[in-house]
Amino acid sequence: MPLPLSRRQFIASSTALLSASYFPWAWARTHSPKLPIPALVDGTSGVPVDLEIRTGQWQFKTGVTTPTLGFSQNYLGPTIRTRQNSELTLHYKNTLDEPVAVHGHGLHVPGDVDGGPQLAMAPGESWQPTLSIVQRAATCWYHSHTHGSTGRQVYSGLAGMMIIDDEHSDSLPLPKQYGIDDLPVIIQDRTFDAQGNLVYSLNDAGEDGWLGETVVINGAITPVTHVPAGKIRLRILNGSNARFYVVGFVDKRTFHKIATDGGLLPAPVALTTTEMGPGERCEIIVDMADGNPAELLTLFEDEVDEDGEGLINSLLSIFSKSDKTTAKPSLTLLVDQKLTANTEPLPEQLSTISRPKESEIKNTRDFILEMDGAENNGGGHGHHGLMDMTINKAAMDMDTINEQVKLGEWERWRIRSDQGEHPFHIHGCSFLIAKIGGEAVPLAQQGWKDTVAVDDDGWSEVIVRFDFPATSKHPYMYHCHILEHEDRGMMGQFTVS
Ligand code: C2O
Ligand code: CU
Ligand code: CU
Repeated sequence: MPLPLSRRQFIASSTALLSASYFPWAWARTHSPKLPIPALVDGTSGVPVDLEIRTGQWQFKTGVTTPTLGFSQNYLGPTIRTRQNSELTLHYKNTLDEPVAVHGHGLHVPGDVDGGPQLAMAPGESWQPTLSIVQRAATCWYHSHTHGSTGRQVYSGLAGMMIIDDEHSDSLPLPKQYGIDDLPVIIQDRTFDAQGNLVYSLNDAGEDGWLGETVVINGAITPVTHVPAGKIRLRILNGSNARFYVVGFVDKRTFHKIATDGGLLPAPVALTTTEMGPGERCEIIVDMADGNPAELLTLFEDEVDEDGEGLINSLLSIFSKSDKTTAKPSLTLLVDQKLTANTEPLPEQLSTISRPKESEIKNTRDFILEMDGAENNGGGHGHHGLMDMTINKAAMDMDTINEQVKLGEWERWRIRSDQGEHPFHIHGCSFLIAKIGGEAVPLAQQGWKDTVAVDDDGWSEVIVRFDFPATSKHPYMYHCHILEHEDRGMMGQFTVS
């Protein structure tokens, strides 16, 4: 099972083990690729943002060319920057020979522009949705959401970042120079064959989903980037299909988490490690004022066992620098004193978040995620020979609306699994977590979210309201964001009216 250790225990045991004694950055400086920074596209100009869905050739490993997919680039897509109270028009064109749907993950937009699987573009087709951006500043993303092939298409490269600004976030003294002190950090794990091709198979994925062997950041392996000697904002997206990470730094430095999926936290939260499930985003501030390199670790959560031994092993392999095949820091930030630094103190207050009163919560719904949980397959494996993945005993069916929700009314959604950890995601909203695995919500998760970790320890509960309609023709989805679970049916559809 993916999570032998509860996240509370882990955070407690991990901080003692990280050591500041080893500096592989001298090696990194000469041998590592530069961190690729996806092109930034202004989404506020009124001109449709062109996103051509196409095949590409990308070098994950220097000198080795890998066939990939991308949006107007070889791998991944441009970062789209938009603002609250503006209109964003996207122009997708599908040049592949298979259907593709593209969803705006984290966006508060109606179902007909949400990009769920019903909105797939056939080969050669285009789709031009106009999105009214009303939500607060946040780091969101867009990615393939094609029925049954989301996992393969995202793995091949169909994902990109979207940044929403607002007047309030503009007014805060946070780093905001894209690519300089405000960096997109898309974490993914990939497996390559001897020729350098991506290896992926939904059929061969185990019950934990498809786990890659090598971490790539914005499509590069152990990249390096130069940053100013001040505050650096990392917009981290776990864009992996199935991998949960524990993120921290080799020197055990404290960083500040300032934002969750749906926007700024009430106040910065000081941390030395943070966990990220597939689909989740967080923004952190790393202070580089001391001039020392910062080496980001993306440890595999499932390799960390109850005694923290997995973590020790991960660290030991990082420390044994003579062995070139072992793990390295996933990303190294090196200070360049010539760059203009943001040395403003971090604001003590970042945003206000108002929670609804108990009396305002009108309805409760329960969701149970199961592996091999379908009722009509004799309890065994489904007709396709794969495990059936279900929510409330139902596998995703494009012709079934599973839930009907009232527009503008607060609800409590209680979610748990029968086994293992799953990142549960809801379209068309941000929500507040009220309980996580039956326990109180840590400060660092007390912000707007759209993806929540659920497990079999106890119910996770979220408080949610939908402010836009979704019809039965263009419903919203809720699903597990382990993409192989989603593709195997752990997903449902709902309307809002
Ligand atoms: Cu990020 Cu329905 O997905
Ligand atoms: Cu989504
Ligand atoms: Cu799952």
